[in-house]
Amino acid sequence: MKIEVFFSPAGVDELGMRGRNVVIIDVLRATTTICTALRNGAREIIPTPDLENATKISSNLSADSRLLGGERQGKKIDGFDLGNSPSEYTPEKVGAKTIVFTTTNGAGAIYKCRYAAMALIGSFVNVSAIVQTVAEVGGTWTILCSGRQGAFSVEDATCAGMIISKLELLTEVETDDAGLTSVTLYKNYKRSIVGMLRKSSHGKYLQSIGFGDDLEYCAAVDSVPVLPVADGLGVKLKAAKIAVND
Ligand code: MLT
Repeated sequence: MKIEVFFSPAGVDELGMRGRNVVIIDVLRATTTICTALRNGAREIIPTPDLENATKISSNLSADSRLLGGERQGKKIDGFDLGNSPSEYTPEKVGAKTIVFTTTNGAGAIYKCRYAAMALIGSFVNVSAIVQTVAEVGGTWTILCSGRQGAFSVEDATCAGMIISKLELLTEVETDDAGLTSVTLYKNYKRSIVGMLRKSSHGKYLQSIGFGDDLEYCAAVDSVPVLPVADGLGVKLKAAKIAVND
């Protein structure tokens, strides 16, 4: 199979992603939070990069079944129900809710994949579910890293490298230079994913605003073994039979 890696969504547009099979990664923290929300019973996540759009979509949903979630500069947005820390997305808060979700990087990356043939939401917390599905479907896949402000982020690239490395245990993988670089990063950091997150630019920022605990949560490989799938409208859970492979 073939895997292409994009280190950031800058320069990627909806039409370019149309018809592709894609894995979207935003380890810190959007895709980790989405996995958590759905595992904890949220019915659906509706991602949008645009704050006004989020409020508009939410106002069209019934008040008792909707929540507004997301961040700007890592912090909860005024008037929103939830920020972007996975710790906030508890079963009590999110059970049976539709969550309209806007974040700086991750929500935009997912939104850009709304015309993809298949779009999976990946992170360290569900990496084996992603690997298993990508291997089963086979063919050509794109891994889209959300990055940071349109630039490279080490945590998303390392997660892409982990996906490719685990796929290589199952099948023959042909990848591009970004994919090869991702695998090298993963080999370098695999002994301490949380150490890598603590040193990363966004990890340092999250620690500085009081979200240091989120880094350990986001580093916990296969701790939330779900398979969130995005279609043109929202992200929902697909049941995944997980065989964890090291
Ligand atoms: C994003 O989408 O930019 C983020 O997940 C940022 C964060 O809240 O850590």
